[in-house]
Amino acid sequence: MDESKRTGTGRRDILIGAGTFAAAGIAAAVSAQVPSNPRSAGSITAGRDTQLAGKVAFVTGGARGIGRAIAVELAANGADVAIFDIAGPVSPASNAKPATSDDMAETVRQVEAHGRRCLPIKGDIRKIAQLRSARDQVVKQFGRVDIVVANAAIQRWKDLLEMEDSDWDDVIDNNVNGTANTVRAFAATLCGQKSGRFILLSSMQGKHGTPGASSYSASKHAIIGLMKSAAEEFGKYGVTVNCILPGLVDTALTRYPARWSHVIGETEENPPKNPTEAETWNNRAPRVPLRVAWLKPEDISPMAVFLASDASAMCSGANFEVTGGDSAQDV
Ligand SMILES: NC(=O)c1ccc[n+]([C@@H]2O[C@H](COP(=O)([O-])OP(=O)(O)OC[C@H]3O[C@@H](n4cnc5c(N)ncnc54)[C@H](O)[C@@H]3O)[C@@H](O)[C@H]2O)c1
Repeated sequence: MDESKRTGTGRRDILIGAGTFAAAGIAAAVSAQVPSNPRSAGSITAGRDTQLAGKVAFVTGGARGIGRAIAVELAANGADVAIFDIAGPVSPASNAKPATSDDMAETVRQVEAHGRRCLPIKGDIRKIAQLRSARDQVVKQFGRVDIVVANAAIQRWKDLLEMEDSDWDDVIDNNVNGTANTVRAFAATLCGQKSGRFILLSSMQGKHGTPGASSYSASKHAIIGLMKSAAEEFGKYGVTVNCILPGLVDTALTRYPARWSHVIGETEENPPKNPTEAETWNNRAPRVPLRVAWLKPEDISPMAVFLASDASAMCSGANFEVTGGDSAQDV
């Protein structure tokens, strides 16, 4: 009888043995030459995740809401900031009231209150030429750009059975094409300088279905696909790409009675059409682990500071959720 069969040693064992032997040889060869990771977050220093001095950030949708909080918090941690916003109507397929030039001016005021420079640029993320021109303005004014936050978006609440074509098309165009335009307009600059951070705003609605807001939910799923693809492509240039997924946040996007009615409708068959803010809070807060019905924009912005900082050097291709604990109910 073949000796290997009698003792139970077969081809698999031989292969494993050979593999182990070969692997040991490779490990010995490799360990002699393993370089220290040149892109590592480095050693621990106090406050290293908040050090953005000398860096320049570009934030779309920076006139108000989460975009403003991110712009101001990046500035509070040392970055100069350019904000890019349409500051006016985006589409009839948007439930939020339009942002204004006064909103933009308020963000500038708050950034400058932290002693940083702020460049406001009016423009539309659906127009890539405007984003390319904005990139050139930022580089001319500040000399560089390190952090790009693709935050601008709209939301439409309309059931699939009831929607107009524009309820689908406009949301997808604005949120998906607009976010991709932002990434594409800045990609060559960040990859060319072999450093940089892309931070894309998705949503928890980008991880599951949203009855009544399918176009928004689909757009936020797409942004995660874009983020992961860009992370795959840009990693070799030392550029990271990540998504922030906020839970429900109190901004113009969500602060109106019809939206509050949707919130109560998550658990009640016949929600009131015009609930008060307090009714909505009392309905939702007990369902959220940290017992908050909605977060503030300033609860989201610290995550952007971390993702913009050197400390996040080894984070890329990932979703970072800030949800008051809603994440616990999600896989
Ligand atoms: N508020 C929430 O509960 C929540 C939850 C999850 C994710 N988000 C995401 O966070 C981001 C910010 O949302 P927000 O709540 O601050 O909304 P918001 O409506 O308060 O602010 C969005 C800003 O984007 C701008 N904008 C929209 N389309 C634009 C375009 N085509 N060109 C230029 N600017 C444009 C608007 O003018 C506005 O200033 C969005 O991507 C949103 O989907 C929000």
